[in-house]
Amino acid sequence: MAINNVMVIGAGQMGAGIAQVCAQSGFNVLLHDRDKNALQAGINGIEKLLARNVEKKRLTKEEKATTLGRLTPSHTLEDAATCDLIIEAVVENMDVKSAVFKEVDTHAPKHAILASNTSSLPITEIAAETKRPDQVIGMHFMNPVPVMKLVEIIRGLQTSDETYETIQMMTVQLSKTPVEVKDFPGFVSNRILMPMINEAIYTVYEGVATPKDVDQVMKLGMNHPMGPLTLADFIGLDTCLYIMEVLHEGFGDSKYRPCPLLRQYVKAGWLGKKSGKGFYEYS
Ligand code: 3HC
Repeated sequence: MAINNVMVIGAGQMGAGIAQVCAQSGFNVLLHDRDKNALQAGINGIEKLLARNVEKKRLTKEEKATTLGRLTPSHTLEDAATCDLIIEAVVENMDVKSAVFKEVDTHAPKHAILASNTSSLPITEIAAETKRPDQVIGMHFMNPVPVMKLVEIIRGLQTSDETYETIQMMTVQLSKTPVEVKDFPGFVSNRILMPMINEAIYTVYEGVATPKDVDQVMKLGMNHPMGPLTLADFIGLDTCLYIMEVLHEGFGDSKYRPCPLLRQYVKAGWLGKKSGKGFYEYS
């Protein structure tokens, strides 16, 4: 199946990044957010990143204008009626995602594929909200989307081979590398990454070392581009906690127990970079 028109739902960090990458790769993109200010902020962010690419001579002025020309803001989910692929990137909450899929399913044309950028929620359950579970799939992009090469492609129990192949090909067109994974809690990326971050938080909680020193060990000792606590702040501590809870509940294994310090920070509203404070302070 050919994909030309894409709708991205949610203009936050992930949604805006996905919309940018799709537009840069030649797809017509409708970027939707029910919050007008968030939508404008998402579009402004894309413009800023494209301008930076022009400054750095990674993009010409014409390519920037062409990319922006492919990007249209959308204020209603009814716009899904013109799309071949809808990628949902709203908040990581099952109720919110379910409601979005239920509604989009009523507007999208019969042939359209519905994808979720969920980082840990079951695709099979999301698919069950629609009348086309064979055309529902997970496309898990990594943050920051324009930079990171991986897309985890998650097959729900009922995802068809045709849907999988279409999305795999589309991912390659986005100049990303697809990796096929089954629908298990945390998939592969977050099943491995989040327990490491949680353990780094326990290390601070137990007073073994400061956040800065834990990060230093992982950066200099393991060659990670960012230490785990800097990365946690960058992802959002609320998202980290949510994913740990999905792992804990999904596997029923105490090894995934979220660190009490992580819970406490989230309760305090210390969510990382986006709130100005997490393990570090941001101005
Ligand atoms: N958006 C777009 N581009 C960005 C960016 C952003 N937020 N941040 C950095 N970049 C790009 C820029 O083009 C920059 O080059 P430029 O300054 O010349 O324009 C280039 O990346 C390098 O950036 P910096 O020199 O500022 O910093 P780094 O060399 O440290 O690179 C990084 C930044 C790529 C973010 C790197 O630190 C890194 O790889 N960190 C780890 C990221 C990671 O692990 N992501 C996965 C998170 S887990 C996830 O997404 C799953 C989810 O479900 C939780």
